[in-house]
Amino acid sequence: MAGLLRSHGEHRVRRFARAFAADPVEALLYLPEEVSRQFEHPVDYPVDADWEQHLHHLLGAPWPCPQTPRAAALWSAVVAELRARGLAFGRHTYGQYSDADESLARAVWCTVVHRRAEVVVETGVARGVISRFVLAALEQNGGGHLWSVDLPHPFERSLHDQTGAAVPERYRPSWTYIEGSSRRRLPRLTRELGRVDVFVHDSLHTARNTRFEMGRIAEVLAPDGVMLIDDISTHQGFAPWLLDRPHAASLVCPSADGEGLFGVVRLRP
Ligand SMILES: C[S@@+](CC[C@H](N)C(=O)[O-])C[C@H]1O[C@@H](n2cnc3c(N)ncnc32)[C@H](O)[C@@H]1O
Repeated sequence: MAGLLRSHGEHRVRRFARAFAADPVEALLYLPEEVSRQFEHPVDYPVDADWEQHLHHLLGAPWPCPQTPRAAALWSAVVAELRARGLAFGRHTYGQYSDADESLARAVWCTVVHRRAEVVVETGVARGVISRFVLAALEQNGGGHLWSVDLPHPFERSLHDQTGAAVPERYRPSWTYIEGSSRRRLPRLTRELGRVDVFVHDSLHTARNTRFEMGRIAEVLAPDGVMLIDDISTHQGFAPWLLDRPHAASLVCPSADGEGLFGVVRLRP
């Protein structure tokens, strides 16, 4: 057992040394996340079984929603395209990360369409499932732009050529991919944009990083803007952030496979 623990520790040190050699700035920015992770614990949020109806209420959109079949068709198309290219898809198939879940993808589609969003920011791209949903929704709206901040997997470089695989070439004019951690890239992006209509957090799911991203976006979120925050149950970042904002409306939504939760926030009622 002691030998196993020692070799696990050595593996992590070697992994970090390789990441440091490739990009010392990002490796050093990652260290405090790893430290704060030691103090994190899962949170058992009460889940809203009628989240989709409540999301539409929060968006001021009709329910049942006429967009649901479109989102379902896009989901099937994206999964089929990735599989046809021989790419893995699903939970924990992008290193320790997962591709987006169908419920989050549908929530993103409806939020971008019903809000008629023009300025959308996401963090965490991987194969680009959410990027594809945002870009297709913007196309249906007739315009808008997506900025995606993404640090390609720091420890599994073999995954890098899959970044954004779900996004067809024709969407590129509406898409700005910004390589680097959100800690490094988000402050400048939000300063330059000055307004964000919809934000999707799906990058590094630590409490520290989630709170940082939500804080940066909150400074520029449009009055009717919406944030969708993935994987809120693995750490204690989401609820305390909301406690400081008593006027915010929020939902806790289950993933389609029942394994995770995502949150929805509107800062002003
Ligand atoms: C859960 S995956 C994203 C899934 C994606 N949203 C989708 O639609 O399938 C997380 C992604 O965030 C990236 N990432 C990890 N740490 C990051 C950070 N600090 N800032 C930005 N991206 C990060 C990972 O390399 C990976 O590409």
